[in-house]
Amino acid sequence: MTPSSVSGAAFDPGAFSATDLIRTKRDGGRLSDAEIDWMIAAYTDGYVADEQMSAMAMAILLRGMSREEISRWTAAMIASGETMDFSSLKTADGARRLTADKHSTGGVGDKITLPLAPLVASYGVPVPQLSGRGLGHTGGTLDKLEAIPGWRASLTNEEMLAQLDSLSAVICAAGAGLAPADKKLYALRDVTGTVEAIPLIASSIMSKKIAEGTDALVLDVKTGSGAFMKTREDSEELARTMVALGTDAGVNTTALITSMETPLGLTAGNGIEVEESLEVLAGGGPADVVELTVELAREMLAGVGVTDVDPAENLRNGRAMDSWKKMIAAQGGDPQAPLPQAAHSHTITAAVGGTVTRLDAMSVGLAAWRLGAGRARKEDTVQAGAGVRMHAKPGDQVAAGQPLFTLLTDDQERIARAEEALNGAVDVDVSGGPAELPPLLQGRITAQDL
Ligand code: URA
Repeated sequence: MTPSSVSGAAFDPGAFSATDLIRTKRDGGRLSDAEIDWMIAAYTDGYVADEQMSAMAMAILLRGMSREEISRWTAAMIASGETMDFSSLKTADGARRLTADKHSTGGVGDKITLPLAPLVASYGVPVPQLSGRGLGHTGGTLDKLEAIPGWRASLTNEEMLAQLDSLSAVICAAGAGLAPADKKLYALRDVTGTVEAIPLIASSIMSKKIAEGTDALVLDVKTGSGAFMKTREDSEELARTMVALGTDAGVNTTALITSMETPLGLTAGNGIEVEESLEVLAGGGPADVVELTVELAREMLAGVGVTDVDPAENLRNGRAMDSWKKMIAAQGGDPQAPLPQAAHSHTITAAVGGTVTRLDAMSVGLAAWRLGAGRARKEDTVQAGAGVRMHAKPGDQVAAGQPLFTLLTDDQERIARAEEALNGAVDVDVSGGPAELPPLLQGRITAQDL
């Protein structure tokens, strides 16, 4: 892989005025390519001040952007840093090996990357999965994997390429060199109430994925209480915008819209999510986690032209598990080592019997976070053993007194606040009738749908 550097795109300070560009967007106008390139380059350099970029972000949130503007904004953020190139990956007969990647907009109990990357890799497709740490109520893939004794998130570009070549699967930390403009802008949006702008979310996510240089990309866009986008409409718009950006950049991009009303699987935390992922890799595990893993694997494989396999097969026959063990060991982890256990646990039981009709994802995410599984500030550490085990999901029957949740933490004093987060998180229909459940897969958007 050659990280081809374009670090810090050049700009002429006198070419435009930030105030004029802010006024253009504030009044609903369109920014030209040259204006966008200038704004991003001058902001990355520090010539455009944070307060000016904040005003621009707010104008974008209120006025929106055209497809062309979002595309150029994304390209300018890519040009602010290095890009990666996996074209040196070849088969024995010299053909290019196309890479496939996945991005999830984040949800509670979303451990899918863990079984998914080795599953797709078990078909010989390289998966360069650059991931992040969690902030807030949704966990980060690296936090989960760091629960495995010895596992190392940081790889050099050379180590990453060598591992992709030999094992096909890599999950590691995204280096600071990819889209540094986004890093700066995202931190600013976080404190100026401008995270929620769809053009800014889409360009932020896609600048990093396009800079990473993957050939195919599958987006898992979550919708519902535990998701970033609470409504189906907003999730669809975000998905369309990202598919358009990927397509315009030559990345074969599709999006699945998936429900995040209720957590995925029966665990939300770090080590306990690894444990559940291992169940899936061993051919078992909760039905929703298996379904989503298989559907996303199917999309990723199709994205690089592999359409003649059933991805469920390599979960059943152990090949995905073999791929996992090699991937973990290559990054210093011991796949056989016991996972860390929390020092304290507390069980919450059902007050009445009946059918569980609702289990709120956001409440479970908040409880896991309060137990120590997540962080409030970037510099915080997370507890490997903390989290929430769920004993019943929507559609299940429970009896009064039956366990609904087990709360896990190293700090007993965290339990009361976590319990508070779960007040009202579960609805039980005492008549015991069947529950109406939204389907996990809610939609699919491809370049043809744009
Ligand atoms: N994730 C990102 O990387 N960027 C956003 O703006 C939102 C989520």
